[in-house]
Amino acid sequence: MAELIAYFSRPGENYVNGNIVNLEVGNTEIAAKMIQEITGADLYKIEPLLEYSRDYSECLEETKADQRRQARPALKHPLPDVKKYEVIYLGFPNYWGTMPMPVFTFLEGCRLEGKRIYPFCTHEGSGMGHSLEDIKRMCPDSEIKNGLALSGAGVHFAKEAITEWLKGE
Ligand SMILES: Cc1cc2nc3c(=O)[nH]c(=O)nc-3n(C[C@H](O)[C@H](O)[C@H](O)COP(=O)(O)O)c2cc1C
Repeated sequence: MAELIAYFSRPGENYVNGNIVNLEVGNTEIAAKMIQEITGADLYKIEPLLEYSRDYSECLEETKADQRRQARPALKHPLPDVKKYEVIYLGFPNYWGTMPMPVFTFLEGCRLEGKRIYPFCTHEGSGMGHSLEDIKRMCPDSEIKNGLALSGAGVHFAKEAITEWLKGE
């Protein structure tokens, strides 16, 4: 049974425990790679064609504007052929209480009917927000499993939580 990890993650300036830090690798990408190590699933990075700024405050503005107009930003890579996958691990940072808009582009563009979707997110305090409801709305014919919310700042120590979550499949 083939599995896919599709994730969005942004390197650059981010807020970590109250300070702005320049992250070379985004938090969600670290979690995605841990899942990959454990499951051996394929990886697909959901990247907008026009990347969000590495500058933190500019990124806040850009993403807020995208969310306000419910944008569906074009993606850099062609969508994966999801026919062969039964399971999709869907990873994203919590942006403004839900997923970054490129993840909406991904969900709208792929035929995910009948697939099991395991959402995971990294965040700075608000957990999954209303992302699960949004995924259910976007993918009414998929089976949406329990989400895993990981603190972005603590993601390097998340392997155990991820392992437990995967066991619950
Ligand atoms: C534009 C933006 C909006 C964010 N909104 C929220 C939020 O509403 N709630 C929250 O807990 N964290 C929020 N965060 C923090 C991120 O979810 C957190 O830092 C995450 O680990 C970043 O993941 P990444 O490094 O994979 O991109 C936001 C960060 C950014 C850049």
